[in-house]
Amino acid sequence: MNQTLIAPSILAADFGNLQRDVEMVNSSDADWFHLDIMDGVFVPNISFGMPVIKSIAKHATKTLDAHLMIVDPDRYIQKFASLGINYLTVHYEACTHLHRTMQAIKNEGMKAGVALNPHTPVSLLEDTINDIDLVCVMSVNPGFGGQSFIENTYSKVEKLKNMIIQKNASTLIEIDGGVNDKNSRKLVTAGADVLVAGSYVFRSEHPIETIAGLKELTLI
Ligand code: DX5
Ligand code: ZN
Repeated sequence: MNQTLIAPSILAADFGNLQRDVEMVNSSDADWFHLDIMDGVFVPNISFGMPVIKSIAKHATKTLDAHLMIVDPDRYIQKFASLGINYLTVHYEACTHLHRTMQAIKNEGMKAGVALNPHTPVSLLEDTINDIDLVCVMSVNPGFGGQSFIENTYSKVEKLKNMIIQKNASTLIEIDGGVNDKNSRKLVTAGADVLVAGSYVFRSEHPIETIAGLKELTLI
């Protein structure tokens, strides 16, 4: 049976009740915490930084998946490792020496991920895919939660999945942006392993049931 992982995005949580929302995710069927770090330079928005990550890590009992939407991410790799991050994902578009960055992340004991903006073709990862633990396919333009899903994502996921199989890599495919009950099953059929969901989870009336529903929908 397929094991799709669900990663609620804390960007959509209520920051005034952060501990409550973290504990909600702990007690749900979700698998990971997705943490969106934005610097106001790589993307036109600023989210949260180290003190907030520290507070989340203090209460979270599941894998911490950090998505860095920042320029020159190499500067902070050690810091994220010390905060207990498990998967550290940097943007392809923000790295001049992507392979070196992947190595630096792994040297700190974390899994290394690469995120691709909607305009960045998956073929650019052909020569590095065996060194990448996770590819985050952006299904919206990064910077904000609550945007609508870009339909071209399905074909990108199919291409990426084929590449991973051909290269005999064990890379996970994560989808980030606009994920909901309308597109989740189709994404898993295309090859997705991890689904990030922000507003669909936190804007729902019963987030625990919403997460369970999403998990159920991805059983193919
Ligand atoms: C967008 C972020 C996403 C976002 C997803 O820049 O990377 O992780 O929080 O939120 P939704 O699910 O609301 O699109
Ligand atoms: Zn994200």
